[in-house]
Amino acid sequence: MNRIGVLTSGEDAPGMNAAIRAVVRSGLYYDIEMVGVKYGFQGLLNESIERLDAVSVGSILQRGGTVLQSYITGEISTEDGQNKAIENLKKLEIDALVVVGGKEALSVTQSLASRGFPCIGIPATIDNDIPGVEETIGFDTALNTVIDYIDRIRDTASSHEKTSIIEVAGKDTGNLALYSGIAGGAESIVIPEKKEDVESILDQVKSGNGAERRYSIIIVAEGSVAGIDLNAKLKEEAGIESRVTVLGHTQRGGSPTARDRVLASRLGAYAVDLLINDEVGKLVGMKNNQPVYYDLDEVFSQEFRIDEAMYQLSGRLSL
Ligand code: F6P
Repeated sequence: MNRIGVLTSGEDAPGMNAAIRAVVRSGLYYDIEMVGVKYGFQGLLNESIERLDAVSVGSILQRGGTVLQSYITGEISTEDGQNKAIENLKKLEIDALVVVGGKEALSVTQSLASRGFPCIGIPATIDNDIPGVEETIGFDTALNTVIDYIDRIRDTASSHEKTSIIEVAGKDTGNLALYSGIAGGAESIVIPEKKEDVESILDQVKSGNGAERRYSIIIVAEGSVAGIDLNAKLKEEAGIESRVTVLGHTQRGGSPTARDRVLASRLGAYAVDLLINDEVGKLVGMKNNQPVYYDLDEVFSQEFRIDEAMYQLSGRLSL
């Protein structure tokens, strides 16, 4: 193996840069030439690559976002797009590709691998929704960001005895809402996987406005109900005035936590180890604090599910 390419695709996640650095420096450690593909898979289609040395990935470990940029593209999801990408990879003499990204990026990686191109996927998304993977790069940072906001909002909500709705990321899954709700002590958590719970939120908040609870923090995942819609319902159906805070992209940015930096460093290095050992078409992750790999085909034959025990726990603790 003479030349490895690395790219980041889809929505950015804190720790992507730490992963790029680890991939590049591990490749150089094995005397492999390393190239970065700019703008995700789009850069493969446009042949936009740059050589990366040890210095060019210096001082990026602590930065959020991705220095290779990212792009959400439709073209790479088509058969023609994928054939062109593989053609270009060959033309650019790239022998293997490491892709850092979430569900969509990893699914394209699986397709390229199934077409015979050597690829490894590294899971990075604040949603933490890759089947079988314990924790994705970026989740811990986003979780800490959300908790910081919950704590701040709780100060005000408790001082004024108000209900506060905090809308967090999660179009398809409520994982971030669930974990941040537990860690931030939310009174209610609304997630897409349990949509029917919106009505019971009204009941919970109504009863909470009695003697025992004078204020409520409600965490909603964006894919369940929009914060402003819940706000309107609370007013209409229960006469409750609430405030809405939509955390939006604040959750995607920021310097990665130590946990995400270490995770990204370990997974990045391990991805290159796999390529060196001719293990391709894999997704890397951690199990029992050790890096492990999964077949990409197997990963995408499963569906992601939230941890039901965590959901039960949130109900038990929030009263
Ligand atoms: O992947 C992270 C994420 O925040 C998702 O939870 C969400 O659905 C998506 O990004 C939203 O991205 P954007 O607001 O840029 O469309």
